[in-house]
Amino acid sequence: MLRVMYRFRKVLNKLTSNITRKDENSEQYMYIDEYRRISKGKDAKKLLSSRKDNIYLGKNGIAEINLDRWAEAQRYEERSWMSKSGLSICEDRNSQHKKNFDSYSFIKDKEFNNAIEIGCGPFTNIRDIYKYCNISNITLLDPLINRYIHHPHCAYSKQYIYNTRVKLDDRPIEQFSLRHDEPKFDLVIVINVLEHCYSFDKFCERILSILANKGIFIFNDKLLSLSQIQHYSQNLFDSGHPLRVADERILDFLKNNFQSIYENFNSVDTPVGEINTIYFAGMLKS
Ligand SMILES: C[S@@+](CC[C@H](N)C(=O)[O-])C[C@H]1O[C@@H](n2cnc3c(N)ncnc32)[C@H](O)[C@@H]1O
Repeated sequence: MLRVMYRFRKVLNKLTSNITRKDENSEQYMYIDEYRRISKGKDAKKLLSSRKDNIYLGKNGIAEINLDRWAEAQRYEERSWMSKSGLSICEDRNSQHKKNFDSYSFIKDKEFNNAIEIGCGPFTNIRDIYKYCNISNITLLDPLINRYIHHPHCAYSKQYIYNTRVKLDDRPIEQFSLRHDEPKFDLVIVINVLEHCYSFDKFCERILSILANKGIFIFNDKLLSLSQIQHYSQNLFDSGHPLRVADERILDFLKNNFQSIYENFNSVDTPVGEINTIYFAGMLKS
């Protein structure tokens, strides 16, 4: 079902205006540096001649990058939120995510003992999710969390989400593990994070290791086909979004490990055009 819905979405996008049409025009070259400066056309082509992410390209797309490349992406991310203009922002499309998840109706009134939001950013999605279900313990994980806590609109600046005290963790998901005396999570939230990480294999392995039996996984990211990723890795450099895992691999991970309880295929407008996205929730298969 997951793949059928996605293929339908892809056909629909092709029929209207989609990324492939934009790729054919003169703006096919784009270079976005870590200071968020965008170059297009000839200027971008010149910059791309000395710097591309195609060195990381494999059969699963760009599924792993080195830590220097990741650190650059994190500098981009920190500047996005913790520089002058970023400091006045109150959300990172969180209301759009809520809408695309149908106000998290699939977990309405459910009880969760232990929830974690991975790559929570300064604003979090759990502050929305919290309103629709009952969560006793919250962990927020983000490598930039100790910086975000100083953001004027940080959702957890006092280390509370509403009246629940939160535990903060600044490890990347690839390095996160639980001590043997710590309980697993019955709710794991990862929204708009995967393309910022550095290893898809470690990401998957860590998610599966921290989820409790029948735990719920809420996931959103972009879906790009392998050929789109191959095309991008030649014509586009996007400093802040280094990981580009092929859609089929992401769907395999979800289908093989989770019993689906919510699926919504959508799209997001980006500097390079409209890109498919997935909004998924599933229960860990036993
Ligand atoms: C685009 S922001 C999204 C924030 C939040 N999920 C939201 O929707 O508001 C991506 C976040 O992922 C975090 N991130 C980057 N690499 C990560 C990693 N390896 N593990 C966990 N989080 C990571 C970044 O620091 C950044 O805050």
